[in-house]
Amino acid sequence: LSKLQCLPALGYLGCIALLPKTAIVAEVHRERRYVAAVYEHRSILSPNPSTLIDRHSALELMSRNLDIYEEQVIAAAEQGAQIIVFPEDGIHGFNFTRETIYPYLEFVPCPQSVKWNPCREPQLFSDTEVLQRLSCMALSNKMFLVANLGSKQPCGYNDLLCPPDGRYQFNTDVVFDANGTLVARYHKQNLYFEYAFNTPPKVDHVLFDTPFAGKFGVFTCFDILFYEPTVSLIKEYNVKQIVYPTAWMNQLPLLSAVEFQQAFATAFNINVLAANIHHPTLGMTGSGIYTPLKSFIYHDMESHDGKLLVAEISVMPPEREANARPGKSIEYPHNSFISLHIDDQVCNKKEHESHCRAAEKETPPIFYREMMYDNFTLVPVRGVKGELHVCANTLCCYLNYQRPTISDELYALGVFDGLHTVHGTYYVQVCALVKCGGLSYNTCGQEVTDATALIDFQLGGNFSTSYIFPLLLMSGVNLDFTDHVGWKNNYYFMSKSGPSAGLVTAALYGRWYERD
Ligand SMILES: *[C@@H]1O[C@H](CO)[C@@H](O)[C@H](O)[C@H]1NC(C)=O
Ligand SMILES: *[C@@H]1O[C@H](CO)[C@@H](O)[C@H](O)[C@H]1NC(C)=O
Ligand SMILES: *[C@@H]1O[C@H](CO)[C@@H](O)[C@H](O)[C@H]1NC(C)=O
Ligand SMILES: *[C@@H]1O[C@H](CO)[C@@H](O)[C@H](O)[C@H]1NC(C)=O
Repeated sequence: LSKLQCLPALGYLGCIALLPKTAIVAEVHRERRYVAAVYEHRSILSPNPSTLIDRHSALELMSRNLDIYEEQVIAAAEQGAQIIVFPEDGIHGFNFTRETIYPYLEFVPCPQSVKWNPCREPQLFSDTEVLQRLSCMALSNKMFLVANLGSKQPCGYNDLLCPPDGRYQFNTDVVFDANGTLVARYHKQNLYFEYAFNTPPKVDHVLFDTPFAGKFGVFTCFDILFYEPTVSLIKEYNVKQIVYPTAWMNQLPLLSAVEFQQAFATAFNINVLAANIHHPTLGMTGSGIYTPLKSFIYHDMESHDGKLLVAEISVMPPEREANARPGKSIEYPHNSFISLHIDDQVCNKKEHESHCRAAEKETPPIFYREMMYDNFTLVPVRGVKGELHVCANTLCCYLNYQRPTISDELYALGVFDGLHTVHGTYYVQVCALVKCGGLSYNTCGQEVTDATALIDFQLGGNFSTSYIFPLLLMSGVNLDFTDHVGWKNNYYFMSKSGPSAGLVTAALYGRWYERD
C-alpha cells in the first residue's frame, strides 16, 4: 500500500484503484443461515375510505386481506421460512381520515407489560380480531410474523399530548413469535402525511429476539430516511437484521423502493427484509430480501399480483474492511481505465500523452435542473471516457468514466447539497450520475427506467456526513452491486466496472441528519 500517496483533488480516484486484491476480505465464514420471506401484497382497498363504516364492515374488509396473508404464510412455511414480513397498510389500506379509520383500529397491549398469545387467549382484550388471526397464522405455521395495522390507545387528560378525542391512533407494526405470542409493537415515528395517525409521544426503539438469527430491529416506510429511530436503533443495539414494512411510492432516479432498500442494507452492512404493497398505478411496488452482498427483489409495474419472496441468507453479514468491501470478486479488467486517471503534476511533465491533452479541453457547460424537486447543478457526460467534477455549496462530486461506445443516450453528473423541502423536510448531499430522459439537458432529472450504456465509473464526493447510501440502478429497475464503496481521505466513493446492464442511476445519496 505504500504507493497510496494521495495527491489532492482528483488523486483519490487513483488511490482506490491501486488497492491490491489482498486487501479485500473474501466471504469465508461458514455462517449460520435462516430462511426469510417477504410478501408484496396487493391490498384490497376500501372503495370509500372517507366514509365512516362500522367495525363489522371494517373487519369484513380486513379479513379478505388476511385470507391472502394466510395463504402466503402457508406457502412460505412450505419453503421453510422462519420469518415472514407483510407490508405497511396491507390489512386496512389507506386514504382514511382520523375518524373513518377508527373502526379498523385494534387495541395492541405493550408486549413488555403483558405476555399475550392472542390465538390462545382471544378473550383477554377487545377489538383484537386482527391480532388473533395473525397470531394463529404464526402459531399454526411455526413462523415469526411481522405485520402492520392501525392501533388505538386511550389516553387521559393527565397526558398533555393526549389528542382531544381521548385516544392515540398509531401506525403500528406487530410481531408474533412462532408460538403466536405478541413479542413486539412499534409505533411509526416519521408519518408521511398520514392524517389518520398520531406521531408517538416518545420515539420507539423496538427489537425482538429470535432463536435463529438473534435480534431484529423494526421500523416503517418513511422512517428509513431519518436518524430516529432508524439509525440510532441500528447503532445503539448493533442490529444486524431489520424487518421493514413499507408502502413506498417510487420516485426515480434516486428513491425507487428496491434501489434505496438495497443501498440501506449496504450502507449499514445489515440484512433488510422489506415488504412493500403492490399498487403499480400509485407507483407502489418494490420489495426484497437484502444482504450487503446479494439482493432478492420484486419490482413489477405490469403485474396485478402480489409476490412472495423466500430466500436463505446468512445471519451475520460479512465484515467489511474500512475502505473496501467484499463483493463479487473484485478485479480490474480495465487497467487503462485506471491509468486514465491523472493528476496535474504528472500531466505537466508529460503533455504529449493523449490523456493529458484530453484533460485540458474546455470545461463542460454547467446547467441546473430540478430532480425530485431539488435544484441540481449538472454537467453533461460526453464522449467514451473522461473526468468531470461539479460542485454546489460545500459538496464537490467527481466522476471518472469510460464506456465502450457512445450510445444515443445523454448522461449527466449532478450535485445537490441542501434541504429537501417537498413531501418531507430533510437535508441531503447527493452526487448522481443519471441517464437523462432524452437528448436535451432539459430532460436530465426525469424519471427513466431503461438504458443501454455500459458505463464503468468511479464516483466520489467530499461529503460532510458519514451517512451515505450508494445507489446503483440498472436498466429495467434491476440492481447491481458496486465493486467498492468507502472513504479515502475526505472523499467517499463508489466504483463499478463491467456493469451487468445499461446504467440508469449511480449515486451517492448522503443524509446530513443534523441539518434537518
Ligand atoms: C389516495 O390518495 C392519493 C393522493 O390523494 C390518490 O392519488 C389515490 O388515488 C388515492 N387512492 C385511493 C385508493 O383512494
Ligand atoms: C412455544 O411453545 C412451546 C410448547 O408450548 C414451548 O415449549 C416453548 O417454550 C414456547 N416458546 C416460546 C418462545 O415461548
Ligand atoms: C438553481 O440554482 C442556481 C444556482 O444557484 C440558480 O441560478 C437557479 O435560479 C436555481 N433554479 C431554481 C429553479 O431555483
Ligand atoms: C469540498 O471541496 C471543495 C472544492 O475543493 C471545497 O470548496 C469545499 O470546502 C470542500 N468541502 C468540504 C466539506 O470539505
